This record gives sequence, C-alpha cells and structure tokens, in this order.
Amino acid sequence: MTAGASMVAGTGALRDGEPGGTERSVLAARRLSVRYGDVKVLDDIDFHVAAGEAVGIVGPNGAGKTTLLSALAGTVRPAAGSISLLGTDLTQLGAERRCRLGVARAYQVPKPFGGMTVLENVLVGAAHGGQLRRRERFERAVEVVEVCGLADLANRRAETLGLLHRKRLELARALATGPSVLLLDEIGAGLTDSEADELVATILQLRQRGMSLVWIEHIVRVLVRVIDRLVAMDAGKIIADGAPDAVLRNETVMAAYLGKTRS
Ligand SMILES: Nc1ncnc2c1ncn2[C@@H]1O[C@H](COP(=O)(O)OP(=O)(O)OP(=O)(O)O)[C@@H](O)[C@H]1O
Ligand SMILES: [Mg+2]
Repeated sequence: MTAGASMVAGTGALRDGEPGGTERSVLAARRLSVRYGDVKVLDDIDFHVAAGEAVGIVGPNGAGKTTLLSALAGTVRPAAGSISLLGTDLTQLGAERRCRLGVARAYQVPKPFGGMTVLENVLVGAAHGGQLRRRERFERAVEVVEVCGLADLANRRAETLGLLHRKRLELARALATGPSVLLLDEIGAGLTDSEADELVATILQLRQRGMSLVWIEHIVRVLVRVIDRLVAMDAGKIIADGAPDAVLRNETVMAAYLGKTRS
C-alpha cells in the first residue's frame, strides 16, 4: 500500500498554538450553540479531541449529542461559535468540504447504497475523502474492508447484510475517506454482546493506528473499553468532562439520567 492511500490521514500534521482549541487538538469547537427554531439545542459548548485521543459522549435522550456531532460534521449550522480542524477554521464549510479535510462521520442508522457491493460502497467513501488516484482509492478501500472485518463479504450486495455487518460497512465507508477524526453515533446500538465485542476489537485496532475518535454510545460497558475521556451532556450543555469512571460517578450526571428515566 502506498503512503497516500493510508486510511489514517493527517493526524501527524498538527499545528500548535492555533486558535479554536487546545494546542494538540485535532478537532475543536468553541462556544458552540445550535438552535432548532426557538429552542437552543446546544448551549455554548466547548469541546475538543486531541491527536490520537478517543472521547466518549453520553447523556440522556435529547441531550444534544447527535446535534453536536452534526455541527462538527457540518450537517447542522451553528447559531454561534466556531469549529476548527488541525487549526483550520471549518465553521463556514459544509459537510462535503469537511469530509475532504478529514472529518468523517458514521451514522446511527447505517445508510449504505443499495444495489452496490460492500467494496463499491467503500470505494464511494474513498472517492469522497480526498485527491487519491484511482489505484490508491482501490488500495485504501481494500485495506479498510479488511480492517473492518468485511473481506469475506466484499462482493456482497450491501442491502443483504445483517445489522452487525451494516454497522461495519458504515464504519468502513467513513474510514475510507481517510479521516483525521472519526465521529461515531451509537454504532453499538442494537448489537448483541458478542457482536459489540467484535466491533470494539475493530475500533481498538483503529486506536492503535492513532485514529482520533468521538463516540456517542448508550452502551457504557462497551464505550469504556475504548475511550480515554468521557464527556456527559444534558439539555444542550456539557455537564462533566474527564476520566470515564469519575464522570460516571459524578452526581450531576447520575441525576441527569435519573431525571429522564422518571419523566
Ligand atoms: N431536526 C430537528 N428539528 C427540531 N428539533 C430537533 C431536530 N433534531 C433534534 N431535535 C431536538 O433537539 C434535541 C437534541 O436532539 P439530539 O438528537 O441531538 O439528542 P441526542 O442526545 O442525540 O438524543 P438520543 O440519545 O435520543 O439520540 C432534542 O430535543 C430533539 O428533539
Ligand atoms: Mg442521538
């Protein structure tokens, strides 16, 4: 495989001291607010991911977790605040441009292209990521298909896959863009325990290659095996941020969950 086709792009190209985050941030949001109509769904959020770091996000339903990911990926436009990637201001850029620059997102509900094979779907991801030549795209797609445990299914039509493999394909399509940071939204939801374990093993492999990750997941047992840091959200705000066990024991975080289960 050529260096240009590597699926882990850009993580070494950090610029220190740039505005928009801490010195080693890959992705950073400053004072971010998002509104849906009159409702403030994200309220003055500061968020960052360091190079090679895996950050988990938890919070009750409706906390604003997916909206944060959408704002980072560029599918939702913030009412206020800024977002930067490796020191480049992304705030005014759409999702397509951000993807080319290195922000990749896997959706909670996988949306593969039906009528196309697994490999073809991943090739579309590779084509969206940047300026690879045809051969390099192919090499990257093959590598990603292997890393994501889909090698035996490369020629299967995407619509015939079961849930675990559709989730793996969703991950593969995102990875094929050669991201500097990967945004995962409940990629473990709906999986059996052993399927979730397999997915964790795959994501741990990505971590070993230095991939920076943001992972929203309700299945905390799964999340804590992968992440360095945990962010808890409630009602559009970050209510705790730190070592996973400390955040999970935080009284405000526990109260946020309790409040929702009672309501
Ligand atoms: N397109 C939209 N238009 C209007 N309101 C929306 C829209 N999308 C989300 N919301 C509202 O914004 C709030 C935050 O939603 P979001 O999907 O970000 O929460 P979440 O933390 O991801 O929740 P969940 O755990 O259920 O996925 C919720 O109150 C939701 O109803
Ligand atoms: Mg969500």
